[in-house]
Amino acid sequence: MKLKTIYVCQNCSQESSKWQGKCPSCGEWNTFVEDVVNVGKSDTLSSHGIPRTAAEKPRRLADQAAPKARLVTGLSEFDQVLGGGFVEGSLILLSGEPGIGKSTLTLQVVSRMAAQKERVLYITGEESVDQIADRARRLGASENNLQILYETSLENILTTIANEKPEFLVIDSIQVMSSAEIPGVAGSISQVRYVTEMIMNTIKTAKIPTLLIGHVNKDGNIAGPKVLEHLVDTVLLLEGERDHELRMLRALKNRFGPVSEVGLFEMTGEGLTEVKNPGERVLKNRPEAAIGSALTMSMEGNRPLLMEVQALVHHTDFGYPKRMASGYDRNRLELLIAVLQKHTTLNLADQDVYINITGGLTLSDPTADLAVCAAIASSIQKRPLPIGSVFFGEISLTGEVRPSYKDKERGKAVEKMGLKIQKLSDLKSLPKL
Ligand code: TYD
Ligand code: MG
Repeated sequence: MKLKTIYVCQNCSQESSKWQGKCPSCGEWNTFVEDVVNVGKSDTLSSHGIPRTAAEKPRRLADQAAPKARLVTGLSEFDQVLGGGFVEGSLILLSGEPGIGKSTLTLQVVSRMAAQKERVLYITGEESVDQIADRARRLGASENNLQILYETSLENILTTIANEKPEFLVIDSIQVMSSAEIPGVAGSISQVRYVTEMIMNTIKTAKIPTLLIGHVNKDGNIAGPKVLEHLVDTVLLLEGERDHELRMLRALKNRFGPVSEVGLFEMTGEGLTEVKNPGERVLKNRPEAAIGSALTMSMEGNRPLLMEVQALVHHTDFGYPKRMASGYDRNRLELLIAVLQKHTTLNLADQDVYINITGGLTLSDPTADLAVCAAIASSIQKRPLPIGSVFFGEISLTGEVRPSYKDKERGKAVEKMGLKIQKLSDLKSLPKL
């Protein structure tokens, strides 16, 4: 084994022989950290010092056994996102910002598994056993089948897995686990990658479905999980605003199911509860004739979700007009303002425009364009939009409203809620509301 020191960007995995302040590949600052790789030729170790497994013969599809039934948790929003429950020996990365509810969701999932007589081992390196036990009890976990261990050493974790032979495993979180075999502190790219690969080898052989928790920042990167995406079978992201109660769980990658499913939860005193009809929540909290408020039917994967766009347009007090967006892309807002300015009689040149998506949700469906424009038009004209109207459509730079993929599904969902689709062919019809 011949070791060499290199520097690796924690954001995009770019490698360099020298430390650099700014990553030439992704442009992030201060993301390079020291890593050690094996540059010597080795038959038994990969370049990162991970043991290679013996060569196997290829197998005919016909000789391959049919897959085993999936492990269903009973938390239907969660099972759906996984594509119908856990697959034997699969490694799932549950990522999200710190404090968003990853441990809470995981404890709820494992409580349900333990109740089905699955022997669960929950390894935490973040909270004490007492803290986790306390939470598990509060969330109604079965006391017999759930084992909790505080441990951060990879070697001890592997020994425990071998001794206890759990039927389901949780590692909370990957950033605090480390191995004595390789240099670097817990949370560094080399540790995160090595620990994950070693755990993966173990659970694949023992066929233990495993949930690995990983923290990410707002942009969905830094601190490891990005470099793990290609390693694990499934990447789930738990999103939301900490100050709001809604949480959205989506699959960013799934080797065993579609990536188009989303699950919706609400953070309550009893943990995360499933939200079956998010549209009703939106309607309940919104006055019917609200000025500057427009409804849109956004497609999150295959699921239509009714969302509310609020706009506030106000005369600019000091020179340069402000454009701010919460839960919506600010650049898209700037573009829509320019299109409105060009193709309608609305004058926004000396107006501040603020956009908010209610419920702490993020709206990224391009067909939300029309709802954003409608909300702006409503606010500047100080008149509410027609009651029960729903706007969706992507707006082109020429001011037309373009048909989009899945418009039919959107339309059906609108009708099912007893609302009306507001059909517009171009933006010129907006100001005469
Ligand atoms: P947690 O699952 O610890 O977040 P993560 O593991 O992603 O860092 O969630 C922490 C937040 O959830 C905390 O601010 C309190 C809140 N919470 C509730 O509101 N209700 C509950 O029943 C629980 C367990 C937590
Ligand atoms: Mg946690």
